[in-house]
Amino acid sequence: MGKFTVLNHPLIQHKLTIIRDKSTGTKVFREVANEIAELMVYEITRDLPLTDVEIETPMGKTVQKQLAGKKLAVVPILRAGLGMVDGVLELIPAAKVGHIGMYRDEKTLEPHEYFVKMPPDIDQRILFIVDPMLATGGSANMAIEALKARGAKSMRLVVLVAAPEGVKAVQDAHPDVDIYAAALDEKLTETGYITPGLGDAGDRLFGTK
Ligand code: PRP
Ligand code: URA
Repeated sequence: MGKFTVLNHPLIQHKLTIIRDKSTGTKVFREVANEIAELMVYEITRDLPLTDVEIETPMGKTVQKQLAGKKLAVVPILRAGLGMVDGVLELIPAAKVGHIGMYRDEKTLEPHEYFVKMPPDIDQRILFIVDPMLATGGSANMAIEALKARGAKSMRLVVLVAAPEGVKAVQDAHPDVDIYAAALDEKLTETGYITPGLGDAGDRLFGTK
């Protein structure tokens, strides 16, 4: 089964409270969602492999560490995943970005794929799939399937708020994908919203309704 990790660093918890608050407007929501994504990436890249490299400091030759050249990519699930991309790229500026468009039918809660554009070599990359909300898990599962169908072999799912139902759905369907969340909330409402959650992430990010 894939690992599920809640990254409950105090800064992450504090910032998450800001975006949960319904009085927080679009501008601050956008800024703080990206700040949380940046803090999360710092944590989830702890295990990236390093290799030795010889360099010369002003004092002489030395062997030091650098990233082992494992290629990375960030994959936002549109739309709301876009709200985490800049935060990820702050720390991994050279990462490629693949987009996957998915919307959830508001009545049936079934996900629908409408767009996929990936870097050509996703089979050789570690993919960080980002989406603020993991609710039923339908969108994340469909995104992971679409990526696997295109050759992806190494994926991590990074969400701000997860519902237990969504975590279980992804773990059951994709035991090879680890999940990282800033918070694990109580449950889903009858209409498929995470409670206490933060509302509709896409609408809050983009000022739509
Ligand atoms: C939201 C969210 C996830 C999905 C989660 O997207 O960003 O992608 O719902 O729900 P699920 O786990 O039950 O599938 P939405 O479909 O509202 O589209 P948007 O990002 O375009 O607003
Ligand atoms: N999508 C959202 O944007 N919010 C939820 O609470 C559930 C799904």
